[in-house]
Amino acid sequence: MPAIVIVGTQWGDEGKGKVIHNIAQWVRALVRYGGGGNAGHSLELDGQRVVVRLLPSGITTPNVLNMVGPYVVCDPEVLIKELQIANTAGSRVLLDRDAPVVLPLHKQVDAAREMARGNKALGTTKNGIGPCYEDHKARREFRLGDLATETSIRQALERGNLYVDRAREVSAGGLTPMSFAEHINWCLQFGELMEYLGDSRAVVEELLEDGANIAAEGAQGFGLDEDQGTRPYNTASNSTPAGFSKSFGIYRFSSVIGIAKAYVTRVGEGIMPTLMDNEWSRRMQELGQERGSVTGRVRRVGAMDLPYLKFACRRGGVTQLVITKLDLLTGHKIPVCDGYSYKNTGMHVPKFKTLTSEVLESIQPNIIEMDGWTESISHCRRYEELPRQAQAYLRLIESSTGVPIIGVGVGADRDAIIWRDSYPSLSQNP
Ligand code: IMP
Repeated sequence: MPAIVIVGTQWGDEGKGKVIHNIAQWVRALVRYGGGGNAGHSLELDGQRVVVRLLPSGITTPNVLNMVGPYVVCDPEVLIKELQIANTAGSRVLLDRDAPVVLPLHKQVDAAREMARGNKALGTTKNGIGPCYEDHKARREFRLGDLATETSIRQALERGNLYVDRAREVSAGGLTPMSFAEHINWCLQFGELMEYLGDSRAVVEELLEDGANIAAEGAQGFGLDEDQGTRPYNTASNSTPAGFSKSFGIYRFSSVIGIAKAYVTRVGEGIMPTLMDNEWSRRMQELGQERGSVTGRVRRVGAMDLPYLKFACRRGGVTQLVITKLDLLTGHKIPVCDGYSYKNTGMHVPKFKTLTSEVLESIQPNIIEMDGWTESISHCRRYEELPRQAQAYLRLIESSTGVPIIGVGVGADRDAIIWRDSYPSLSQNP
């Protein structure tokens, strides 16, 4: 049974955590394949909001194996906290020993660069993600396995001149680098991680050979993807299934489930064509608690962007969609972007096959208003129970993207989700 891949289709924060939390009940293992502590996947657990940043969103599901792959840049302090949640819940964890470690110096480099960019800052999460991936590309990454002993820590800090180069960069940026000795002491705190280390690629292969259902969890969303996203305001890893393929060598998936919020949000800098600043967007910001789960920054809100969603589904290989937070649209007309026109020429943008930042900056979104509904939908568990206006909205998303919707989020609780009959049965978990 090939793996299912779950990806964000907008600019992150689509509500992947809750969807994966659901899917965790039907799979034997989950594997997080990209990003780092810049991500924040929110789960609702016994009425409490839990945010996981590195471990997969199945950590609160007993017996599920939660793996962190070799392409995830890991902050060991975050790992220690999340292991406690997993241990309390009775889920199992395996961390790939090759996963790169985000060192304090990486965060310092990120901060120094953002400072130097002034009003041209990229709005990174300052979690050291970009600099850590650079060291991975430079083949001198400090790996989780290097945390084992003082000798291996020292050798890893010296590999490819890692410490010296990065410390020099921090100083040049006007900050005081954390010293070599302090780095060694910092690294020595994480010995307890060693018992969780292993080879996630081998385990994934064994599980697939054994016919198990497994799900691969991406971080962020299509618009932030390293290659396909709106550069330079993107992150440093692949949010698309490419991230899973490049780190696990797996190119066939049973499905790629794209997660899209019923409206769009973006945190940090960068173009968002359907951005709105009106009573509706402020209402969504408030009701949807649209603040970065890691940085606390307010997320900008805009109308559902169908051309961009279609593009993300095509380039991300999305085979099925889950729409989240549909309940938040209750009580209002629904703004939807159904097309772009180019530089006020009225020319339709489907002509453009690549939606780069430059293209998106030259278009005007065409916003239509759809009829909304007033009754609460949070109790609905079958698609047919949704008001006809909600069904019309979902049908428009399906017809515009050409991708079937298999699930709809209707509330914050884990079970406040409608799975449609068409959803391939994952419930038999071999
Ligand atoms: P970095 O990933 O910290 O380097 O930040 C690069 C860009 O990605 C910034 O615009 C961040 O706000 C954005 N970003 C990174 N991770 C997330 C996420 O999980 N959700 C939403 N935006 C994110």
